Amino acid sequence: MKNIDIANKIKWVGKVDNRKVPFHRLILEKGTTYNSYLLMTEKPTVIDTVDIEFGKEYVENLREVIDPESLAYIVINHVEPDHSGALPALASKAKNAVIVTSSKGEVLLKEMYRLYNREFLVVKDGDTLDIGGATLKFFETPYLHTEETMVTYAVEEKILFPCDIFSTHIANDVLFNDLANEPYEEDFKTYYDLIMSPHRPYVQDMIKKINNLDIRLIAPSHGYILRNNVKDFINNYDQWSRISSENKPRVALVYSSMTGNTAKIAKAMAQGLEKSGVEAAIINLKNVSEEEVLNTVTNADGLLVGSSTRYGDMVGKTESFLDALSEIPAKRPAAAFGSYGWSGEAIFHVENKLKKTGFNVVDSNYLISHRGVDTNLFPLRLRFATEDGLRLAEEAGRAFGEIVLTQ
Ligand code: FEO
Repeated sequence: MKNIDIANKIKWVGKVDNRKVPFHRLILEKGTTYNSYLLMTEKPTVIDTVDIEFGKEYVENLREVIDPESLAYIVINHVEPDHSGALPALASKAKNAVIVTSSKGEVLLKEMYRLYNREFLVVKDGDTLDIGGATLKFFETPYLHTEETMVTYAVEEKILFPCDIFSTHIANDVLFNDLANEPYEEDFKTYYDLIMSPHRPYVQDMIKKINNLDIRLIAPSHGYILRNNVKDFINNYDQWSRISSENKPRVALVYSSMTGNTAKIAKAMAQGLEKSGVEAAIINLKNVSEEEVLNTVTNADGLLVGSSTRYGDMVGKTESFLDALSEIPAKRPAAAFGSYGWSGEAIFHVENKLKKTGFNVVDSNYLISHRGVDTNLFPLRLRFATEDGLRLAEEAGRAFGEIVLTQ
């Protein structure tokens, strides 16, 4: 496949990769495609590029339909190198093109490809861009599947360019789903399960943003362009990412608080857990018997343990509770949190104790290797309980809830 029209003045200019590609610790047995699109408007625009390995070939192909120097914009919806990899090769020829991306995307692209001297246009939720005879509208879709991701909607042509979202890893030899020579629905679901389902709450956020758009074509960046039963694919994502109230997972949020700050953090984390679709069972160790708290933890799907720090140590009944955890089945996610005013050792003591129990302790190593999220969110150590700190605590609760949902 090469340079194919998908709509009026819009071409697919991507690359089919028939190799068994290693990707996220998997081998893509059916290969994949890197779908890039060229909008030949008065201000010609490319939406996403292809894998870094095909950069030179990609630019040569593109040159068959347009002089790269005439490109006005290059939209990068997602920075992972299977889509942004050909950007340096393209940008070096498309000298006048402004790079359009999210604010996090700008930081990453500049650093990854040393594009410090290029003009960037940072777009936010709902921003539009006139590309001369057509309008693009942008929606931020964080964590689908990395933090900087966004989708682009071509308003007049009613086409959604969602990059990884609604993709399929398959080296298809025809472009549109209604022309497919073999069933692909299972591959579409497998892709969702592997790449999107760990971020289910964010899938729901995305659905809310695109639900009112009139979409006649979904042009993702892997696999088939969806032009048949478009609504069904959106409904599938909606259904698969919903959490039923009957089987809502539960997290035991157990803490000891000296002056009330750790209690406030626990409450904020509980709010984050609820937002992710997970129930929080908050327990102040001071008020509950050991038997009762162990019973709650045994029946929970995850565990958060918090303590204030006093003279470099945990407070209240935290240590005896952690010692008693060895009596119950672990193999579930757990993490430490707490507030401090001076040094904050208690949170590390909690984490070290958790690591001896057999729970799967969530820390920065866990987050990067299991979820591709580069953050120091856990263990959550906050000085006092400031407004910013509590916001972070809520974010941590939500992130932990997502881990529980997908363990
Ligand atoms: Fe297809 Fe997240 O890259």
